[in-house]
Amino acid sequence: MGKRIAVVLAAGKGTRMQSEMPKVLFPVLGRPMIEYVLDALRAVGVEKVVCVVGYRADDVQKALESRNDVVFVEQKEQLGTGHAVQQCLDQLKSSDGGVVVLAGDSPLVQPSSLSKLFETFEEEGHACLLGTLKRNDPTGLGRIVRDDSGVFEGIIEEKDATPEQRTITEVNMSTYVFQTPRLVEALSRLSNDNAQGEYYLTDCPKILKGLGDKVDAVPVLKACEAYSINSREQLAEVERVMAEIGYNKS
Ligand code: UD1
Ligand code: MG
Repeated sequence: MGKRIAVVLAAGKGTRMQSEMPKVLFPVLGRPMIEYVLDALRAVGVEKVVCVVGYRADDVQKALESRNDVVFVEQKEQLGTGHAVQQCLDQLKSSDGGVVVLAGDSPLVQPSSLSKLFETFEEEGHACLLGTLKRNDPTGLGRIVRDDSGVFEGIIEEKDATPEQRTITEVNMSTYVFQTPRLVEALSRLSNDNAQGEYYLTDCPKILKGLGDKVDAVPVLKACEAYSINSREQLAEVERVMAEIGYNKS
């Protein structure tokens, strides 16, 4: 097992926040939301974080300049979450261990869940393992598609889902671990043939499964991890949940 590295996606504008401030810098209980994500990675022994920046990249880099475990990669145009990770190829190609990929808009990600994922991933030798959970209201999130016997098949984005798939309550919270060389392989096969015309990171698990790799999704995420921030309402919701479970305001 090589070193643990991570990719954190932080290039988007966050259009739904209706602000010029990059979404990942919005304060949550007084700190930029991305800081919580980086703290969680540090807590599980990730030695290097590749942070993908784009929209107002300078501002994001400046906000994180004291973090010497973070390197920045620029995504000049925001063509999707898969395209964002494609910008990290140079960094990824020098690694043969596990890589965790997270979104910078999910400050409630828990180190205990990341540890559990890493442990299962290392013990069972997956090419890709994702953490999921069930949500009463899955609206807006990628759904986890399984066959009749419960075997993981892939992630379908809401905008691409059939009405039947939209009734699925198990969701993707963008919590992935990959064997780095297999992630590189999947990224080389992404297409943007979907409802949003974007290169989706969510297609990678299915692509690897199609290549015969061991891929799975396990519902290990905690209830508090069901929240990510795409709007002001969701930001307020996350602050409420954090206060409830004992995060301190700084
Ligand atoms: C994404 C997932 C969805 C999941 C949800 C919650 C995809 C295609 N969909 O949707 O399945 O349920 O997260 O975790 O991945 N970003 C970039 N570059 C881009 C686009 C996005 O860096 O070109 C960054 C954003 O800054 C953000 C993160 O990636 O931090 C996620 O992007 P966002 O637009 O919030 O994706 P969701 O619609 O939430
Ligand atoms: Mg999001």
